[in-house]
Amino acid sequence: MAIYFDKETKTFFLEGKSVTYAFFINNVGYAEHLYFGDKIGRDCLMFTRGALRGSHEACVPGRMPMGIESYNKMGCELSFFGTGDFRECTVQVEREGGNRLCELTYAGHEILDEKPPIDGMPSMRGTRTLVLHLYDEKAGFGADLFYTVYDDCDVIARRIEYINCSGEDIRLHRAYSFAMTLPNDKYDIISLYGGWANERQIERTPLHHGVFDVNSKRACSSACLNPFISVVGRDTTEDFGTAYGFMLVYSSSFALKCEHTNGGDVLVTGGINDFDFTWTLADGEKFSTPEVIIAHSSSGIGGMSRTLHDALRNHLIPKKHRVAPRPIVINNWEATYFKFTTEKLCAIADASANLGIDTFVLDDGWFGVRENDTSGLGDWVVNEEKLEGGLDAVISHLKGLGLKFGLWFEPEMISENSDIFRAHPDYAIGAPDRQRCKTRKQYAMDLTRADVRDYIVNSVNSILQNHDISYVKWDYNRCPTEFMSATLPKERQREFHHRYALGVYDLFERIVNANPDVFFEGCASGGARFDAGVLAYFPQIWTSDNSDVHMRTAIQRGTSIAYPISASACHISAVPNHQTGRTTPFTSRQHIASLGPTGYELDMTKITDEERELVKRHTEWYRGIEELILTGDVYRDSYRTDGNVSSVTVVAKDKSQAVTVCYRALNLINTSLVRIRPRGLSASKSYYCPELALTLSGSTLLNVGIIPSFANCDFATLVYHFEEK
Ligand code: DGJ
Repeated sequence: MAIYFDKETKTFFLEGKSVTYAFFINNVGYAEHLYFGDKIGRDCLMFTRGALRGSHEACVPGRMPMGIESYNKMGCELSFFGTGDFRECTVQVEREGGNRLCELTYAGHEILDEKPPIDGMPSMRGTRTLVLHLYDEKAGFGADLFYTVYDDCDVIARRIEYINCSGEDIRLHRAYSFAMTLPNDKYDIISLYGGWANERQIERTPLHHGVFDVNSKRACSSACLNPFISVVGRDTTEDFGTAYGFMLVYSSSFALKCEHTNGGDVLVTGGINDFDFTWTLADGEKFSTPEVIIAHSSSGIGGMSRTLHDALRNHLIPKKHRVAPRPIVINNWEATYFKFTTEKLCAIADASANLGIDTFVLDDGWFGVRENDTSGLGDWVVNEEKLEGGLDAVISHLKGLGLKFGLWFEPEMISENSDIFRAHPDYAIGAPDRQRCKTRKQYAMDLTRADVRDYIVNSVNSILQNHDISYVKWDYNRCPTEFMSATLPKERQREFHHRYALGVYDLFERIVNANPDVFFEGCASGGARFDAGVLAYFPQIWTSDNSDVHMRTAIQRGTSIAYPISASACHISAVPNHQTGRTTPFTSRQHIASLGPTGYELDMTKITDEERELVKRHTEWYRGIEELILTGDVYRDSYRTDGNVSSVTVVAKDKSQAVTVCYRALNLINTSLVRIRPRGLSASKSYYCPELALTLSGSTLLNVGIIPSFANCDFATLVYHFEEK
C-alpha cells in the first residue's frame, strides 16, 4: 500500500492490494481523475485524456486545461457548479448576496500516517491517507478530499470536508462525498431495491445517457433502495469482467448518481441527498460528509462483493466481532408476538435448553403498556404486571438453563399512548400546524435534539446496566416524516435529515460504548436500515422479517452483493411461514439460515422430537462452520440454469475448506440436470467431500462440477463440505 506523488507530472498514485487509483493536478489546478483499476506502473498517463473537439460546451473560464476543450471531457475528483461544468456537481455553495459560483483548485496536500475518524460519523479504520486541499480564493471556500487505500482489499475510502474561510456564512445546497469518472464504455448499473419482507432485490439496468439515480428522502437508508450501486461492464458476469462498487457509510437520506455524459465519460458522485438539504456553514466551520467505499474488481460481480466483504469485515465492523462466535438465539417474536407471560417465556426457554442455542431474546412487548403496537414505545420501564417478577425472573430462570438473555428495544420511537409522549409531545418529530403521520401506529423521536437523545440514552442504559443482559436487538420500525424540529431555527430546518443521522450515530455510540459486553444486532422492520453506517456499530443486522426459504434465498443473495454474510442475521421460523404462508422442509430452513449468523424464531414448545434432534444437529454443525461463515469468501453461482436452482459456496481464505449450500425451488419432473461448480476452491488442492464420499481434485470439482440429487420435494436444499486432503 503506497501513496506516491510524482512531482514532475503532478500525479498521485494510490496503490492498494492490487489496484491503482491515479489522478493529477492539471495546468489550471483542477484535480483530474485518470484511472482506477488493476495495479499499473507509475507511468505518465496524460495520453489517456480525452481530446474530442467541437463540443460547444463551456471552457474553463479564462484558461484552457491543456488538451481538453471542456469539462465534460475531463476526468474529475470533484465537480463544482457555476463555471461551465454541467455534469452533476459534487458541491454547490451560495454566498451572502446570492453568488453560487465556485471553482476549486489545488492548494496543497498532506499524507497522514493514520486515517482520521470523522467527527460524529462512522467510517472505516485505516492508516495512510492522502488529504488533498482544494480552494476557491474568491469564495473563501475550501474542500479537503480524503483518500485511504488498503493492503488487504481493493477499495479506496473517500470523503470530503468542506471549509468556510470567507468571513461570512456560506450555504451548502449540495455537499456530496466524492466524484469519480470512469472511461467511456457501455455499462450496466446494479442496484438493490425492495420493500418490507422483500429487501435488497438485485436489479441490473443498462446505463443510459443522462443521470441514473438511487436515493432516499426518508432520513434512513430504507429497504426501498440501498445506499449502494455497482457499475459494471455490459458483458461483466458474476465471475468475469470489470465491476466497481460504490457504498455509502451512511444511514440517512442519500443520493448516488451515475451520469453518462455527452462527452462520453461516466461520472459517479453522491453522498447526503441534497433534496430538502441546505446547511449553513459559519465562517471558520467545517462540514464533514459521509464516507464512500469504492471497490474495484476485474473478476466480476462476485469479485467486487468479496472485496467489499473484506473491507467491511476487516476495517468497519467492530474488530472484536470479526471472528468471535456469535450468539445462537431463540427469539420469541413469532412464537408469541405481544402475548406472553413469564411462564410462557420460561417454557420456550426450557424447550430451547441443551440444543446448542445459547441466548434467549425477549422481543417487543416487555415495557410500558404494550399489548399491541399502539402504545408504550419510549417508556423503557419493565411491565411487571405482564411479566411477573420482571426481567430478573426470566433471567434467573435462563441462567438455571445455561442460557443468556437478550432484549429488544426500539429506542428511536415514541407511541402517542405513552407516558413520555404525554409529558413531552414535542419529543416526537412534527410540525406545529399539522397532524403527525403515523407509521406502524407510532412516531419517530426528534433525534436532532440533545435532550431527546439524553432521555433515550439514559433510559436504555439504565435497563442494560441494571439487568444481566448480553444481547440487544435494536429495532427501528418507521422512518421519520414531517421533517421539522421544534428546536431548530427556521434557516436550519433543511439540516434536519443530516442532523437526524448525527443523532442516530450519537445514540449508537453512547449506548454501545457504555455497554461493551453487550452484543448489538441492528434491525429495522427486518432489513430497512441495512447499511455500512449501522454496521460500524452493530456487527450484524436482522436481514428481513421474511424467513421463508424461497424468498430468503433471494434476499440473502441480494444482500451479499454488497454486505458480508457475517452481517446478515438469519433465523429458522415456523411453517406455514408467517409472511408467505409457505411450508418448506425444516432442514431447508436450517441450511438457508446457516448462510449468516443463525438462530431460531418459533415456539420451541411446539416442535416435534425429530425436529428437536435436527436443532441439536444443526447448532453443532453450524458452530463447526461458523468461522467459515464469518470470515470466508462467498461465491454465488451464476444462475446458469433457469433460476430454479441456485447455490452459494463459502471458501476459507486459505482454501483449505469450503461449504456449498444448494437450493432448488420447485421439484420439476424430467427437466435437465443441473451442475453446481463450487467455485473458489483451489484447482491444485485435493478435497474430501463426505456427502459424495469421494476425494477429488479441486480442478475436477471446479470444472466438472457436481450434480445435486435433491430430495423428492419442493424447496429442497443440499449441503456439500470440502476438506483439504
Ligand atoms: C420488526 C422486527 O423486524 C421483528 O423481528 C420484531 O422485532 C418486531 N419488529 C417487533 O415489533
